[in-house]
Amino acid sequence: MRADVLRISDLGADGLAAVLEIARSPAPQVLAGLGAALVFERPSARTRNACEMAVVQLGGHPVTIRDDEVAMDRRETVEDVARTLACYHALLAARVARHATLERMVAALAREAVPVPVVNLLSDLEHPTQAVADLLTVRDELGGLAGRTVAYVGDANNVCRSLADACAMAGVAMRVAAPDGYGLRPADVERNRDLGGALVCTTRPEEAVEGVDVVYTDVWVSMGEEAEAGRRRADLAGFTVDDALLGRAAPGAIFLHCLPAHRGEEVTDGVLEGARSRVWRQAENRLHAARALFAYALGARPAPVGTSS
Ligand code: CP
Ligand code: NVA
Repeated sequence: MRADVLRISDLGADGLAAVLEIARSPAPQVLAGLGAALVFERPSARTRNACEMAVVQLGGHPVTIRDDEVAMDRRETVEDVARTLACYHALLAARVARHATLERMVAALAREAVPVPVVNLLSDLEHPTQAVADLLTVRDELGGLAGRTVAYVGDANNVCRSLADACAMAGVAMRVAAPDGYGLRPADVERNRDLGGALVCTTRPEEAVEGVDVVYTDVWVSMGEEAEAGRRRADLAGFTVDDALLGRAAPGAIFLHCLPAHRGEEVTDGVLEGARSRVWRQAENRLHAARALFAYALGARPAPVGTSS
């Protein structure tokens, strides 16, 4: 069954487990002879390249479209862009400024029963393809997911929100340390609880990282927040992941960051380049995550146990 993936929770626990399983299987050729439209309203290094190569590995042809080419809601409506791209492509994936743009794409295609799934490549609300890569990295680096604990330190943004829900569905405990005004919202905590999570939210980074298996951070100024940069840097000072903070985590703990990183703000150069950092494995996993998520969105499911070759 085809599936839109706008939020990581759209997968449900079984869907997420399926995606993680597909990620370590040979690429199903679900896009053989078909196209995939990848729309970017925001810049990207990892997501664009990972997604293009994922489409190739699934047998398809990627067409990356920058917003200045289609100018959604300026040259024509989001709905008309979605319906146009669905004339040529079997999959529509987009990085958007506003999450509602993805919902409008889904609604426009659903109205005409167009069987083209929509996948979120980052919105102001979530970054689901990143969260899948994050779990792949934790699983591979620490030998499993269930029972592990992740501490996220900094701005509880789109990356944090998707990671928290992914952790909840995968049996990974999560703690979030953010200053007042930068934490997850009550609705996020409630949704996370409904997904099986038990988020610990604090304003004290030291409390969050004590004994954890993974320390994670992301930029303090996300794309679209540039006008607030000064205030954000002031408010988030004290939430830098440095060697002293990382030293409070469990022996063998790893450091993750979705990248791009701002050395000296959310993380020190020493931590990013240090022995515990797995950020390049994580970046590589963006490819495996995108391939698995696209395959799942197009209807692929893992082979039943005992039938794989
Ligand atoms: N982590 C991530 O999404 O990187 P890009 O913005 O470079 O795609
Ligand atoms: N939170 C960041 C993630 C970049 C990959 C942003 O939205 O800009």
